[in-house]
Amino acid sequence: MTNKNSNMITLPYKIERAAPPFAGEGLQSPDTLARHFVGEYTKRGDKVFDPFAGLGTTLFVAEAMGRTPYGIEADGDRRDWVAGQLEHWTHLIHQDAGKMDKLNFPKQDFCITCPPYMKRTDTWNPLYAGDPKYKGYDAYLRRMGTIFSKLPLVMKRNATVIVQADNIAGKTYTPLVADFIQVISKHLTLENEIIVTWKIPAPQALNPTHTHCLIFKNNKKK
Ligand SMILES: C[S@@+](CC[C@H](N)C(=O)[O-])C[C@H]1O[C@@H](n2cnc3c(N)ncnc32)[C@H](O)[C@@H]1O
Repeated sequence: MTNKNSNMITLPYKIERAAPPFAGEGLQSPDTLARHFVGEYTKRGDKVFDPFAGLGTTLFVAEAMGRTPYGIEADGDRRDWVAGQLEHWTHLIHQDAGKMDKLNFPKQDFCITCPPYMKRTDTWNPLYAGDPKYKGYDAYLRRMGTIFSKLPLVMKRNATVIVQADNIAGKTYTPLVADFIQVISKHLTLENEIIVTWKIPAPQALNPTHTHCLIFKNNKKK
């Protein structure tokens, strides 16, 4: 389904692992998306990193494809649920992604991640579990920038980092794709933006027709 000359691909929208009851709906990224990019950018044995592991889609897909998964998840229940099903369970750390450079990870070959999203009008900042000291969209983007400033310390030189992002429609539009590009580009080089359109419209997705995958390279001068 990939046209190598195009920055659009079409994939089926498929979530293959039922979410645990405590997590509710709408958190997971489709397995099809992780499988596509892990297959395209890595080989067997490569280290695949997700600093916002959530319910583990990247890690499960990477392990099933013979790659070695590593990740971070700030929510302890999610971390335990995922680790309980992973062969490489010690590679998933319950921590704040902003501490990724202190966790003794080996240098990673590839990263694919979907950070927690926030609307411009929300006060609850998901990167601080809603701590009112850090409320608001500006604090969210600043923290996102700080977290991504650590990625070059964890990734191999020239490694690819893919960030899934969606704009959020509504009364006040949230241009998350452009805002992620702005904060992450300070630390990684943006090489491409691939629009993934869903083969079957996906009512469970934030945007039922498509998502954005931002392709960065870890090659900024230090
Ligand atoms: C959109 S979800 C990722 C979903 C994942 N791609 C999947 O398929 O399950 C984002 C995750 O980031 C976690 N998170 C939020 N702030 C964090 C932080 N500071 N450090 C690490 N994880 C964090 C949330 O708990 C949430 O599980």
